[in-house]
Amino acid sequence: MTMSEMSDALDKIEEQGMREVTAASTIPEVDSCRVRLLGKKGTLTALLSGMKDLTADDRPLAGKAVNELKAKLQKWIDQRTEEISLREEARRLQDEKVDITLPGRRRHAGRLHPITQTFQRIQEIFIGLGFRIAEGPEVEEDYYNFEALNIPRDHPARDMQDTFYITDDILLRTHTSPVQIRTMKSQPPPIRIIAPGKVYRCDADISHTPMFHQVEGLMVDRRVTFGDLKGVLGFFLHQIFGKNIGIRFRPSFFPFTEPSAEVDIACVMCKGKGCRVCKQTGWLEIMGAGMVDPEVFRMVGYDPHEVTGFAFGMGVERIAMLRYRIDDIRLFFENDLRFLSQF
Ligand code: PHE
Repeated sequence: MTMSEMSDALDKIEEQGMREVTAASTIPEVDSCRVRLLGKKGTLTALLSGMKDLTADDRPLAGKAVNELKAKLQKWIDQRTEEISLREEARRLQDEKVDITLPGRRRHAGRLHPITQTFQRIQEIFIGLGFRIAEGPEVEEDYYNFEALNIPRDHPARDMQDTFYITDDILLRTHTSPVQIRTMKSQPPPIRIIAPGKVYRCDADISHTPMFHQVEGLMVDRRVTFGDLKGVLGFFLHQIFGKNIGIRFRPSFFPFTEPSAEVDIACVMCKGKGCRVCKQTGWLEIMGAGMVDPEVFRMVGYDPHEVTGFAFGMGVERIAMLRYRIDDIRLFFENDLRFLSQF
């Protein structure tokens, strides 16, 4: 090999090196360029073996030229490596970009149904007065729902409640009053219970649903008076609706209480002035109540000369509607989260 052949070969390697390094677009590609050009079995190393053919004068010149080219190639390779890694890093940053201005995903907390919350509030107040919770079945016998409450089969009061019958003797309870009978039949006086639960009537419009909730109350002891009834219910209503709410007891009739009353509160919407909700009367009916009829005591085996008692029954939806100012009872049962999440 002559010196000029050597120069040509170096030029060719330089040209080839420039082309390959520029063409490499990934780190592994640049690495394989390096191996091809500068590696132990690379083009430049191969060229060095031709050095021995050169004259003693040419050899140092050729050595210098080879070293310069080596340095040049190394520089290009380093530059290219640097370029590629900067570009790859920029792309990675772009790809993994997080938009921290996007709003987070909200977690929805579950909450108690407004009816459940109202139940709990009612129970809390009566438990504070020494009442305990009693329960009875929703599928009930005609006997407990009607007969024992002094409503015989041909009694016109049966028309007050549109009953879902299952058989002639089995029905869905139309009120929580049968729990009074079950409780008195299972224990001697004194009694102080409330009975919260579901009741059923064949009825549906903006103020009636076929299933709704009641809380029954019963207190039986020696010398329980109508004054006690008024005191307990007045205290309860003030707890629920506030100290300033107007309350009125209006004479009424139930076959299982005598005397009987319906309890009204001053309309929470118009404060008694008269509006659509109270049908211009200024009052809202909130529960039925009365002194336990002696006939009912006889039916459960209590002596009406020994004990007296009062009972009451209230509609829970009614109370929840007034507490939360809801004007359609059906909203409670549609399970629309937009409604339920407001409580
Ligand atoms: N059970 C009656 C009703 O559902 C309410 C009531 C209960 C009345 C207790 C008096 C005493 O209409």
